[in-house]
Amino acid sequence: MLKTGVEETMKNTVVTFQQAKEKGEKLTMLTAYDYSTAKLVDEAGINAILVGDSLGMVMLGYEDTLSVTMEDMIHHSAAVARGAKNTLLITDMPFMSYQTSVYDAVVNAGRLVKEGRAQAVKLEGGVEVCDHIRAIVNASIPVCAHLGLTPQSVNAFGGFKVQGKGEEAAQKLLDAARAVEEAGAFAVVLECVPQALAEKITKSVGIPTIGIGAGAGCDGQVLVYQDMLAMYSDMAPKFVKQFAQIGSQMKEAFLAYKKEVAEGTFPAQEHTFKMDESIIDRLY
Ligand code: KIV
Repeated sequence: MLKTGVEETMKNTVVTFQQAKEKGEKLTMLTAYDYSTAKLVDEAGINAILVGDSLGMVMLGYEDTLSVTMEDMIHHSAAVARGAKNTLLITDMPFMSYQTSVYDAVVNAGRLVKEGRAQAVKLEGGVEVCDHIRAIVNASIPVCAHLGLTPQSVNAFGGFKVQGKGEEAAQKLLDAARAVEEAGAFAVVLECVPQALAEKITKSVGIPTIGIGAGAGCDGQVLVYQDMLAMYSDMAPKFVKQFAQIGSQMKEAFLAYKKEVAEGTFPAQEHTFKMDESIIDRLY
């Protein structure tokens, strides 16, 4: 049989994202920050893994995403890349890795691809980052935009708040979505915007919208995996659905382990290695 190079399970790319929009097929994206989680997400057939800078909060314990470095993102992205076969790997550009200049944006996007093995990068902002998006796309690196509640602007917003509620703010977000599409973004994340506005944006742009706290009218959805598995308890956003109680299951397992070690029931015989015990008798 001829080797065509065509895999049995389709590899997700920016092209399949565009095709999904055209066919009206919903896209799924989840975050991952390590090899084992990436493998599970990949095996579940999720379209894209986002190595989000949310790792600063859910993995590193910061109160926001602002302290995350390029080195953090590269380290976690490379680990995820080793576990992700068929999902599209998108890695976040951390705070101040692109805002400083178009040049910095291209250099740092390049590092995420070369060292972090990302297949696309995500950055936050609208009209003010269009030159950056254009330059990164011109370097053949696909860009996912991110609008609405952009967590790197938490200090400018005065907290993690829903965006685009008033007429002026809503128009600004719609204009921004059109602008990032025009600049060459292949998709746009809409975070914490009213459902009706997310629907309007979704109908107004030709690229897929990926919602988080933006309702079901988007072309796809993204969640932070620790949120949807109830593993992160520092914050409980209204838009999160807990699909499993893995946090409490983990805690129960840790308690059971502690108890069995204390009681001497773990390790049991089946967890041990055998040897010729006459050797023990000859030891002095
Ligand atoms: O960093 C992240 O995980 C994100 C998602 C919340 C979209 O940007």
